[in-house]
Amino acid sequence: MTIKAFVFDAYGTLYDIQSVATVTEEAFPGYGDIITQIWRMKQLEYTWQRSMMQRYADFSVVTRESLVYSLKLLGLTYSDDAFERIMDKYVHLDLYPDAKAALAALSGYKLAILSNGSSGMLNDLVKNTGLDQVLDATISIDSERIFKPAPQAYTLIEKKLGMKPSDVMFVSSNPFDVAGAKSFGLNVAWIERVTPQAMAAEFKPGAPVAPVTMFKAVRTQMDELGFLPDHRIRALAELPKVVGK
Ligand code: LAC
Repeated sequence: MTIKAFVFDAYGTLYDIQSVATVTEEAFPGYGDIITQIWRMKQLEYTWQRSMMQRYADFSVVTRESLVYSLKLLGLTYSDDAFERIMDKYVHLDLYPDAKAALAALSGYKLAILSNGSSGMLNDLVKNTGLDQVLDATISIDSERIFKPAPQAYTLIEKKLGMKPSDVMFVSSNPFDVAGAKSFGLNVAWIERVTPQAMAAEFKPGAPVAPVTMFKAVRTQMDELGFLPDHRIRALAELPKVVGK
């Protein structure tokens, strides 16, 4: 088996979705963490619900609807301007600090994103952060009208890059995506950003649980679905190691 391409999940893998906390906190002081966590949890749930309901709407719609949900439940009122300022962060997310160096270290391989993001959001984000200079392709699941982890979403790698699943290393930090990619038949490297030890250490008996801790509990630990990654690494910088470089 020779790996010829690295295909990355976008949100949470190359891009730090927690970086929206700066704009949510600025717009609603004291609520930044809770908005950030509920927003991302609901955003993903809506992708799965819409896929199952066969009511596809692209990720920009899902992202807006989940932000509305988050602000409503907190009883927060807002202007269109405030809402758009928060949304705008989605096309200016922070890259993980090691993302650019990690991609540079993998030059020679085909490099692409496969994301649930809509084509418009992804293209803006990739351009705004300079990744258009290093990626060979930015693939949105839009054309299949179903979100990861549906198998149809992962078929786009072969359709767009012409690479067989066995030639591809798929990289994600999102456990649902790792399980989906592995179930589909890709080679998978999981960026395990929160170890089980670090996770467990965040809980103190009887003490309140912070929103970010609840987020980590439901969205960062490996799922018990029977589909495990081929490689577990802590950071993007370790990727060359998984192909023996
Ligand atoms: C992505 C989100 C779901 O596909 O993490 O980029």
